[in-house]
Amino acid sequence: MKGILLAGGSGTRLYPITLAVNKHLLPIYNKLMIYYSLSLLMLAGIKDIALVVNPHEKEMFKHLFKSADALKLKLNYVEQDKPLGLSHAIMKACEFPEFKDSPLMVVLGDNILYGHTLPVTLEKAKKHLMERGGAYVFAYHVPDPQRFGIVEFDQEGRVLSIEEKPQNPKSSYAVIGVYMFDSTVSEKVKKVQPSHRGEYEITSLLEEYLKEGTLKVSLLGRGFAWFDAGTHDSLLEASEFVATIEKKTGLMIACIEEIAYINGWIDIDTLLKIAKSLSKTGYGKYLKRLAEE
Ligand code: DAU
Repeated sequence: MKGILLAGGSGTRLYPITLAVNKHLLPIYNKLMIYYSLSLLMLAGIKDIALVVNPHEKEMFKHLFKSADALKLKLNYVEQDKPLGLSHAIMKACEFPEFKDSPLMVVLGDNILYGHTLPVTLEKAKKHLMERGGAYVFAYHVPDPQRFGIVEFDQEGRVLSIEEKPQNPKSSYAVIGVYMFDSTVSEKVKKVQPSHRGEYEITSLLEEYLKEGTLKVSLLGRGFAWFDAGTHDSLLEASEFVATIEKKTGLMIACIEEIAYINGWIDIDTLLKIAKSLSKTGYGKYLKRLAEE
């Protein structure tokens, strides 16, 4: 399975903060926002990733991730000329021949997901997808369903509909920005037409799988915390949440070097080398402690 990480878009809901800075490069407590979504791909064991960016911001991301290969990540930069929607971004990434025929995990660069069973949950989803195909997504109960893609279920838990930002939501379950698709996604995404908002919506792509009867929606329970950090309030809430958990446990959320180490992608010497280069920071000290422990 390969990964697609979406870091394009215009970030207008965060103006004026994002007038000159890309949203995904804003801090969530002690890390950049994009670390949180990247870590989800890494936790699912995915190294080969298409990073979708706005053309004028590509160099910034390349600079940020210039040492990504030291973590054994293979990043392919995909330019999306205009932010025409999530399905459009996926279509662009599928223009890469090696992504076209592969099952894909797609993560939105402004999503943060935390829960103690997260690695197992992702592994289970991946296994389901690799064995049975289709699309696998996660739903989370939210107080403000008008802001998200909303999934409606029947009494037996079967999916009845998916709607993007409905005015009259049929449920309070949002589809979060973590999606797994079988290799037919590159064909299905071409069928997506612009919505009344003028965007190529991700929910339209999910509807293609729904029509085919191969859309699996898994509910994330109360043991998970999910944030879409695309508004001023959610940006603050996410930072406060991460700070609280990290201070309480002494363990970091979304530390990409730690995940690479736990996954066996880097050895202890590489971890110590990275720790040394960041030795003046709490982040570097954390990596050093990790290696010593
Ligand atoms: O966070 C979950 C929600 O994300 C889902 O419930 C919705 O179904 C889905 O459409 C999406 O809604 P948002 O309104 O939050 O999407 P947003 O425009 O903020 O874009 C999500 C990410 O994708 C963001 O990190 C920027 C990136 N993006 C966005 C667009 C429109 C791109 O890379 N290219 C794009 O064209």
